[in-house]
Amino acid sequence: MSTAPVVLVTGGAGYIGSHTLIALHEAGYAPVVVDNLDNASLRAIERVRALTQAQIPFHQVDLRDGPALSQVVAQHQPQACIHFAGLKAVGESVAQPLRYYHNNLLGTMELLRVLEEAECFHMVFSSSATVYGDAQEMPLTEDVPLSATNPYGRTKLFIEHMLFDVAAAQKRWRCMNLRYFNPVGAHPSGQIGEDPSGIPNNLMPFITQVAVGRRPHLQIFGDDYSTPDGTGVRDYIHVVDLAKAHVAALAALPKITGCEAVNVGTGRGSSVLEVLRAMEAASGRAIPYQVAPRRAGDVAVSYADPSKAQRLLGWQAEHDLTAMCQDAWRWQEQNPQGYAG
Ligand code: NAD
Ligand code: WQD
Repeated sequence: MSTAPVVLVTGGAGYIGSHTLIALHEAGYAPVVVDNLDNASLRAIERVRALTQAQIPFHQVDLRDGPALSQVVAQHQPQACIHFAGLKAVGESVAQPLRYYHNNLLGTMELLRVLEEAECFHMVFSSSATVYGDAQEMPLTEDVPLSATNPYGRTKLFIEHMLFDVAAAQKRWRCMNLRYFNPVGAHPSGQIGEDPSGIPNNLMPFITQVAVGRRPHLQIFGDDYSTPDGTGVRDYIHVVDLAKAHVAALAALPKITGCEAVNVGTGRGSSVLEVLRAMEAASGRAIPYQVAPRRAGDVAVSYADPSKAQRLLGWQAEHDLTAMCQDAWRWQEQNPQGYAG
């Protein structure tokens, strides 16, 4: 029987989760996936199994189904949990706030209850730079006051508070709230990647869909920000680097007490036009665009101070924007219709 530490990965069939399964396997962990497939395809799991040559267990379970979740935890007895499962579309959360609160908050509460019962007290949670609200001072450090500008962001904020509270009440808890900046890119194999349903909300999948011919042009939301070229600036982080940050966070849990929040970004900002040009170079295709009005709720600039991740996790990003675009393009070109193709 294998002695690899078992890690429960909620939302493991999703974009970031599927990449993290590979990083966990490579680092000698035994991941077990729980996902309701609400925003994912079983093909992602099949492809991860093929890439790793490992029979990663998969359970199609909704986190809010306590008895089913308890059964999975009793069967596999995980030593830690990486909690990705949640709904993540900002605009949808404004239109359907109760669905977001129900899914993200109740799902997490049920998960924490089941893990406590099983005495599994180690957690890495998918938080987001969205918890910095519209903070203006760059780079963003973890001690910037937190706020939220939409229901999705509020679920992340509430869950961070929830984890601080449970860790204060039960001293065996160790939680790492990883605040991701803008995850992009794909596994270099081109076998797994981001596969948004419907029209992509985020820049990178929209750009790759234009490059591959699925959409006629990109709309650039505002070119009159006070940034070097007038377009919005973000800290894009390669999903493979992000996956490795989770492995580093797991390894660092024993040396912390309670909860810690850690930024996961590169520390470098890129503008929309820079991303577009980098994708044109990676794909060898022209990417037509039109300038549109600013999108409500967008900030001009957002990038991380990632020095705490370096100090606490011994982690730093390794991939640059060129690699992010090359890998995102390889995935899109090989899978023009995503997993459905
Ligand atoms: P994703 O939608 O690809 O993955 C989330 C997974 O969770 C999906 O596979 C979905 O089916 C599953 N899921 C949702 N609700 C569930 C439930 N109640 N029970 C079981 N499974 C459920 O998203 P992603 O981009 O991989 O993001 C993963 C996490 O990281 C999310 O919590 C997201 O909010 C957070 N995050 C994402 C980004 C980003 O830009 N992608 C940025 C910051 C934070
Ligand atoms: C990036 C830049 C847009 C699309 C969102 C969430 C955040 C986090 C990551 C989960 C901005 C511009 C975009 C388009 C454009 N998710 N843009 N045309 O808004 O930084 O963050 O995803 O936690 O919570 O808010 O990312 O990729 O949507 O936008 O011009 O079609 O690209 O204005 O400057 P964002 P994004």
